[in-house]
Amino acid sequence: MSVNEEICYTVIVLKIAILGGSFNPVHKGHIFLAETVIETLGYGLVVLVPAYISPFKQGVPEDRDALKRQAEERLSLLLAAVEGKRRLTVDDCEFAREGVSYTIDTIGDIVERYRPDGKPGLIIGDDLARDFPRWRRARDIAGCCDLIVANRTGDGAEIPFVHTRLGNVVMPVSSSMVREKMAKGEDWRDWVPEGVAPPEPGISGDVSGDLSRNILRRIEREVRGMLPLGRFLHSRNVALMACTLAARFGLDEDDAFLAGIAHDMAKGLSTPLGHGEMAAEMLRDSFGVTNSEVLEAVRWHTEGKVGMGDLAKIVYIADKIEPRRKTVDPRLRELGKTAPLDALFTEVVRGTHDYLERKGVVISENARRLLQHLETKTLQKAEIGHEKKNARG
Ligand SMILES: [Fe+2]
Ligand SMILES: [Fe+2]
Repeated sequence: MSVNEEICYTVIVLKIAILGGSFNPVHKGHIFLAETVIETLGYGLVVLVPAYISPFKQGVPEDRDALKRQAEERLSLLLAAVEGKRRLTVDDCEFAREGVSYTIDTIGDIVERYRPDGKPGLIIGDDLARDFPRWRRARDIAGCCDLIVANRTGDGAEIPFVHTRLGNVVMPVSSSMVREKMAKGEDWRDWVPEGVAPPEPGISGDVSGDLSRNILRRIEREVRGMLPLGRFLHSRNVALMACTLAARFGLDEDDAFLAGIAHDMAKGLSTPLGHGEMAAEMLRDSFGVTNSEVLEAVRWHTEGKVGMGDLAKIVYIADKIEPRRKTVDPRLRELGKTAPLDALFTEVVRGTHDYLERKGVVISENARRLLQHLETKTLQKAEIGHEKKNARG
C-alpha cells in the first residue's frame, strides 16, 4: 500500500513541495521520491511540474507542433501516474508559458496560486545539485524555497546553500532507461506507475486497499479518458481541493473527491441539459452512483441554488477557486484556508457573480436567487450581532 492510501485526510494541505522535471516518461522513481518527501518531511502535497523545454536537456524538437505533442504526451502519462494519489498533483504552468522553463518563474507562479503556508519545498536530485549555483537566479530560488536534495546518483554532490538532505533510497530506474527498453521492445511496464501501464486484461493488478478507493480510481481513469487534458487537470484540482475542504469541514473526503473528479465530465457533450445536470445523470446511470449529496454537488456546481448541502457548497467553491484558475481573487483563496463554510461560500458566490457580470454573462435565475438569499442571511446576521451588542451595552 502506498503512502497516499495510508494517510487519513484529516489535515489541511497547506505545506507543499515542488518536483520539476522532464518526466519523459514519468517512472516509479519519480513517484517514490515525491511520496518519500511527503512521508519523511511532512509535506501535504507535492506538485509535479513537467518542463515545457528543460534548460538542461538537449534534443528538443524544433518543430513547434512536435514540441507541443511531445509535451502533451508527457503530461498525459504524468496524469495517469498520479491516479488515485491525492497527495500528488500535476501543474502545467510551464506549458502555458511555453519557451524554456525556468524554476524561479515556476515557484512564483505556484506560490501565487496555491498559497502554501511557509516556503514551498523544492526537490532537486543530487545529479543537478552540482550545477545548481548556475541556475537562473539560484540565490533567489534558495531564498524563497526550502531546498530538498534527493539522492539520484548517490554521489553526494554538495550544494552551497542551506538545504535538507532527503536521504532516500535510490530506485534503479531512469527515464532514459525506460525509453531504451521501449525502443528495444523490452518489458518496461514494471518501471512505470500502474496508472501509466494498467494491467493487461486477464492479469490482476494491485487491487489491495479498500473497494471504494478502487472504484474511485476507476472513475478517475474513465473521466481522464473522456476529457481534454486541460479540463481533466481542472477536474482533478477541484477533486483535491474539495477533499481538503471536506477535511476542514468534517465531510466525507471520498464523496468530495468523487463529486470533484466527475463534475465536468459532460462538458463539451451536446446535450439539452446543463453540463452539471448531464454529469449527474451519467454518474447515476453509467457509474451506479446513488449518493444524493454527490449527485446534488455535481448537478449544481455551476449556478448553485438555495438550500444546497455542505458537500455541494464545497464543490461549488473548489470549482471556482482551484489553483489552475488564473483569474481568481487571491483573497478568496486565503479565505479558503480559514473562513467558516457559509462565509466562504457567500464570498465565492459573490465573487462569481461579479466576475460574470464583468464578462457580460447572463446570470441564471437560480444563481440570482442564491446570491439574494445569502445577502439577506448576511444582513440578518449582522443585525442580530448589532442588537446583541446594544443589549450588552
Ligand atoms: Fe462546470
Ligand atoms: Fe469545473
